[in-house]
Amino acid sequence: MTLLGLETSCDETAASVVRGGKILSNVVSTQVEWHAPHGGVVPEVASRQHLRRVDGVVVEALKQADVTAQELEAIAVTRGPGLPSALLVGVSAARGLATRLNLPLLPVHHIEAHLYSVEETIAASSFVALVVSGGHTLLWHVERFGCHRRLGGTADDAAGEALDKAAQLMGLGYPGGPAVESAARMGNAQRYDFPRPMLDSGDWNFSFSGLKSSLRRTVIDLKKREGLSPNVVTDLCASFQAAVFDVLVEKTVRAARSCGVSAVALAGGVACNQELRRRLEKACKGLGWRFACADKMLCTDNAAMVALLAEKKWALGWRPEKQWDIAPDWVL
Ligand code: KG4
Ligand code: ZN
Repeated sequence: MTLLGLETSCDETAASVVRGGKILSNVVSTQVEWHAPHGGVVPEVASRQHLRRVDGVVVEALKQADVTAQELEAIAVTRGPGLPSALLVGVSAARGLATRLNLPLLPVHHIEAHLYSVEETIAASSFVALVVSGGHTLLWHVERFGCHRRLGGTADDAAGEALDKAAQLMGLGYPGGPAVESAARMGNAQRYDFPRPMLDSGDWNFSFSGLKSSLRRTVIDLKKREGLSPNVVTDLCASFQAAVFDVLVEKTVRAARSCGVSAVALAGGVACNQELRRRLEKACKGLGWRFACADKMLCTDNAAMVALLAEKKWALGWRPEKQWDIAPDWVL
């Protein structure tokens, strides 16, 4: 089956063509430069940029895949969760195309797409997945494809959001995750002692807003006493990142143990982080478990994961209703 996928849930305008489980093209037009001055995603700016870009990314995805619109057999699109005005652009564009080409329009859950972006690589019968992005920090137990149970999630800020805000506090720009990662590489993670929130909460939930407040207090105090020298910033980044990752790694391992599985998967934008990948992989290897991480191009928001998931579900007989609307708060 040849599918076109579209993704516009946040700040990436993306289109992809897949066929038979293979990615023929994966075009992502990032809006980072538009949101960077604001230190985060501005919903109205995002939807306006999606509107400007969506036709172009579709044309480019078809061109790169060397596929004509007439060869498409279905259109998949992110229905939610996400920013309402941003979702609306992708869904309207996809619906227009599907109507004109008389093709099925397949609604995809953004988190489910992140979750299964790693499934092929793990190929384990049962695994625990950590999906960690700018909007979500979630632990799942996947019994097999399509059969998953949410174990827990963040009560407030997602891990990616905490890293973005931390970077903003230290004047490192947006998006913060990659900036904190590269500063942390040169820093001393033992220099500042940040809390490990909810490490022993006895459930699989997370909370990062207290950690962020602790960083804010430390930054204010340091600014008053000695100023934020580059050395201080690298040590702050290393210490803050270590606190976030200690919680993510430890709770993921404990969750896997409690589910009786010996395979762990990592996906979502924060999964681009080499240090997180290395630490979770090391923890798994030490226990003799399997570990898999989504391909980097499938970690941050993209349309290939959307099209791949829709194709797989379609092949298993899934036929969605024809009438549906965007679902900004869609719970999986
Ligand atoms: O999956 P994604 O593109 O969008 C959401 O669905 O939220 O994830 C974006 C998040 C941002 O918070 C960004 O700072 C974070 O992923 N991120 C990283 C890295 N690259 C992106 N966090 C840590 N290290 C990275 N290298
Ligand atoms: Zn995402």
